[in-house]
Amino acid sequence: MRVSFEAWRRHARSLLARGVAPADAAWEAWRGDGSLFADAASADAPTAEREYRVPAAVVSLLEQIACHRDPQRHALMYRLLWRVTHGEHDLLDDAADDDVIRLARMAAAVRLASHKMTAFVRFRELREDEGVRYVAVFAPEHDVLERTAPFFVKRFGTMVWTIVTPDGGAHWDRERLAFFDVDHSTALPAEDATEALWLTYYESIFNPARLNVAMMRKEMPVAYWKHLPEAKRIPALIAGASERAGQMVATTLEREVAPYRIQRGSERGVPDAPRDHALAETTSMRIPGKRTLDSCRRCPLGAKATQGVPGEGPVTARMMLVGEQPGDEEDLSGKPFVGPAGRLLRRALAEAGIDSGAVYITNAVKHFSFEPRGKRRMHKTPAQKEIEACGVWLDAEIDGIAPAVILAMGASALIGVMGQRLKVSEARSMELIHPSGAQVRATYHPSAVLRAIDEPRKAELHAALVSDLRAAFEAAGGASA
Ligand code: URA
Repeated sequence: MRVSFEAWRRHARSLLARGVAPADAAWEAWRGDGSLFADAASADAPTAEREYRVPAAVVSLLEQIACHRDPQRHALMYRLLWRVTHGEHDLLDDAADDDVIRLARMAAAVRLASHKMTAFVRFRELREDEGVRYVAVFAPEHDVLERTAPFFVKRFGTMVWTIVTPDGGAHWDRERLAFFDVDHSTALPAEDATEALWLTYYESIFNPARLNVAMMRKEMPVAYWKHLPEAKRIPALIAGASERAGQMVATTLEREVAPYRIQRGSERGVPDAPRDHALAETTSMRIPGKRTLDSCRRCPLGAKATQGVPGEGPVTARMMLVGEQPGDEEDLSGKPFVGPAGRLLRRALAEAGIDSGAVYITNAVKHFSFEPRGKRRMHKTPAQKEIEACGVWLDAEIDGIAPAVILAMGASALIGVMGQRLKVSEARSMELIHPSGAQVRATYHPSAVLRAIDEPRKAELHAALVSDLRAAFEAAGGASA
């Protein structure tokens, strides 16, 4: 049975509260619903909650490990949680610890599986009365559908699509993302089968008995159901569901319909990207227009900053550099990378033999995120939500410039470009592809060079930045199209 992270978390909390040590937790017997657990009656019962402080990095790691297919993952996750809450709060800092090493490897495998999914899912087009819909079948190495589906929402938000994996399916109707169970007794049609066969397949894999009806009603107005071929059987199933099935439906499915929602291009006010490069007479362009950006309130940052800071560079640039967000000087001048990090970046570009005017330079987030401290405004790393909210502007830039290579500088830039959190040191050696077809490379952010702990590390990071810039520029085929 598939176990959600939330179910694991509930059970782990309950064990922690009752002081059950990892060696006594018997995770092998746990099936995710508590029913086969030896101590089922009390396992998930409310307990006097003791407050445990679990660092965000640990929670994020646990969420990743939960997607791994290793049968021991739940036990390993609990051991980590136990240690962190029993005197080893900073355990993750101990890179030599056996558990940390093993879990870090598992998390990297999950991230890689997620990345591969973003790169290798291929949709086929099905034409229906209601319009076109796109379907894909994919078997990720780990159970990463839920963590990866938002990537497809972001990239293919204007399409209606369904992705089917051995762990279940995801469906996007341009408004909402829904997860559903897949009935694998239905054989996959051959690749060259007719559209009708594929449609039949998609109708039959969807298992409405696993739907959270209450959630579905709330998140997806009934009026939408008729547009989902797989939802045609829902009313009958709801009507005929036995009480037991009804209870199952009510208790198991918070995950089935995620409250994830994005708006469509025209609604969210994305300017039409100058795809045909009609603007090429202007050697330099800024997408989106400055005024559009100044008035952006997709996240709270716009209201606090002085102005929006769009990217800058030739429309024909083959390489796009993406940083994190404008700093204090950029916020005041309205131009990207003009402060200390910018000066270092421009020096590194020169050392790599690249004219900084030949590349398009921008940021994942277009407004300065800061915390006031006295008279100073201290840089504050943007939240993932803020980076995602700003994704429409970065998408518009990528659309407009159509670079061959995007060099993401730092982890925030990687989230903006790839829609997922990756470690820069690992992503530097990954082969990443943006849905536009652009090759994505990763390097250190110039600020990481500035903040390096000592001179040798600074020199090392600086050299890595220069060599990544050079390699990316070569891969892009030089300055302009
Ligand atoms: N850091 C960034 O990521 N971008 C800028 O524009 C300036 C500093």
